[in-house]
Amino acid sequence: MIRLQDVCKSYFLGDEEVKAVRGINLEIKDKEYVSILGSSGSGKSTLMYLIGLLEHPSSGKIFMDGKNVSKLSDKELSKIRNRAVGFIFQSFNLLNRFTVYENILLPTKYAKESLDFNFRDRASELLNKFGIWDRRNFFPNKISGGQQQRVAIARALMMKPKIVLADEPTGNLDTKTGNEILGILENLNKEFNVTVILVTHEKDVAKRTRRKIYIKDGQIVEKYL
Ligand SMILES: Nc1ncnc2c1ncn2[C@@H]1O[C@H](COP(=O)(O)OP(=O)(O)OP(=O)(O)O)[C@@H](O)[C@H]1O
Ligand SMILES: [Mg+2]
Repeated sequence: MIRLQDVCKSYFLGDEEVKAVRGINLEIKDKEYVSILGSSGSGKSTLMYLIGLLEHPSSGKIFMDGKNVSKLSDKELSKIRNRAVGFIFQSFNLLNRFTVYENILLPTKYAKESLDFNFRDRASELLNKFGIWDRRNFFPNKISGGQQQRVAIARALMMKPKIVLADEPTGNLDTKTGNEILGILENLNKEFNVTVILVTHEKDVAKRTRRKIYIKDGQIVEKYL
């Protein structure tokens, strides 16, 4: 369970304050499939970074499973994040100097000693599951966009996270491939027991999730206009 209490996030550009997120109260329960819908610049990505513990709130509190995590150090946060959260991005964010297989293994790099599962078996299972086993020794720039996004999903799932956050995961894909990726995300909470939070500016994408959170000018609103 994730809870945000009066969360604000401002960025400063010189003297100018940009209020990206303004007083968000929000609770997302385990195994929910939620979308965050809003227009460009409304604060969706910022909200996602806050939920995913990539950013500290300027004010307010963030609770994860009842524990206040908003005051933890960067080191403590990165430890929780590595275990609990998987990220998927519009531009896939794979590392082109590593193979598909190596990319999927990256999240295990800093936690190998303490893993309670065999990371090689896990990687193979995910490669098979997402139909990219035959691409495991390819470099990411040699495979299709849809395949790259499936690699990114496999990487996000590597550490068996409780939460997967996807920021415009279909933004760089054609409609058919995008729908396949949405189908995979839809299945994640059923098959892998994860909470899936999908950030999008497209109503048609948000329509597929069970719960929609509308955001405008950094605030949650009742209706998306
Ligand atoms: N690092 C930053 N420094 C300064 N301002 C920022 C920064 N990141 C975001 N902003 C500003 O905060 C506001 C919200 O940005 P955010 O990226 O969260 O919007 P978004 O809804 O994800 O937009 P998009 O759909 O275009 O990705 C915008 O006005 C943006 O310019
Ligand atoms: Mg964004």
